[in-house]
Amino acid sequence: MTLVRNKQVILRNYVTTFPKDSDLYVTSTTASVKFKLPAHTIITTSKEPAVIVKNLYLSCDPYQRLFMEEIPGVDESTYSQRVYYTPGSPIYGYGVAEVLDSHHPDFKAGDLVWGTTNWEQYSLITTPKSLNKIQHTDTDVPLSYYAGILGATGLTAYVGFYEFCSPKKGENVFVSAAAGAVGQLVGQIAKLMGCYVVGSAGTKQKIDLLKSKFGFDDAFNYKEESDLDVALKRYFPEGIDIYFDNVGGKMLDAVFLNMSVHGRIAGCGMISQYNLDQPEGVTNLMHLVYKRIRFHGFTVRDHYHLHPKFLDFILPYIQSLI
Ligand SMILES: NC(=O)c1ccc[n+]([C@@H]2O[C@H](COP(=O)([O-])OP(=O)(O)OC[C@H]3O[C@@H](n4cnc5c(N)ncnc54)[C@H](OP(=O)(O)O)[C@@H]3O)[C@@H](O)[C@H]2O)c1
Repeated sequence: MTLVRNKQVILRNYVTTFPKDSDLYVTSTTASVKFKLPAHTIITTSKEPAVIVKNLYLSCDPYQRLFMEEIPGVDESTYSQRVYYTPGSPIYGYGVAEVLDSHHPDFKAGDLVWGTTNWEQYSLITTPKSLNKIQHTDTDVPLSYYAGILGATGLTAYVGFYEFCSPKKGENVFVSAAAGAVGQLVGQIAKLMGCYVVGSAGTKQKIDLLKSKFGFDDAFNYKEESDLDVALKRYFPEGIDIYFDNVGGKMLDAVFLNMSVHGRIAGCGMISQYNLDQPEGVTNLMHLVYKRIRFHGFTVRDHYHLHPKFLDFILPYIQSLI
């Protein structure tokens, strides 16, 4: 058994409203860590053989705020994996790691993986189905990209847009939180598809970036708009065919008023609601019926099987820029 420091980021207690630094703390204890699993196969509560990993990169994402409090009606059975953090234990999220030992047939020592891991240096992963093997180690693409564009973030944009928006060339696409990690990719993928794409974001710098670097046709600062319905009518006089919703709340409510008949909405996230004590109401839902809109909520965790297809799509673009 080896003696190492295993630095961990721990949730102090469940969080209400906006999280504070003090809601999390870092421990750095010297502990004996078993880098080898015992000779017999560990059957964990998930009935999967466990894997030990060394974490290399971690991604900090909005959904982590959701897991800092218990949400009525949402649990492991609805989310198909563990959901909430446990106060006193390390938080978890997406990351890139190296396998140190494994009794799982899909992994062996030395493999590089991306997926759900704990915010600590070394982790015993008891649900290895949340890990995906990185196959492209012979390319020039930095490994850290699998904690972002080549991992869950990129897959979210790809799956949300292609699987749930049924895009067609020339359609009108609106993306909120468009300068965020997911939004900026959705916009660029939609442009590749030949769509007209407008994004919303919260600063002038982000608006400039969307138009000058990410190729959006237009963009506006939602914080400077007194009436979001009027703003959307300005950019989409003929209506929105596809809305990629990252924010929910007032923006979603205004979008309903501006959707085209048979429009599609990908319910990716609702970041405007995550820190609120009480979620805001959405009042224009009847437009789902009037306009026969398809509104599909999704989680990327259900779509890992599409990751190879996503890589075939995105890697050539990335490699052309390296
Ligand atoms: N369904 C899934 O499987 C899945 C997977 C990944 C992410 N998501 C969701 O996708 C969304 C975007 O994630 P991301 O990784 O792109 O996040 P990100 O890169 O961290 O960007 C988030 C951005 O959201 C904007 N924002 C924050 N508070 C807001 C508010 N109150 N109203 C409107 N905008 C606000 C901010 O930009 P501004 O300055 O522009 O306001 C912020 O920079 C989130 O809702 C996340 O939960 C879902």
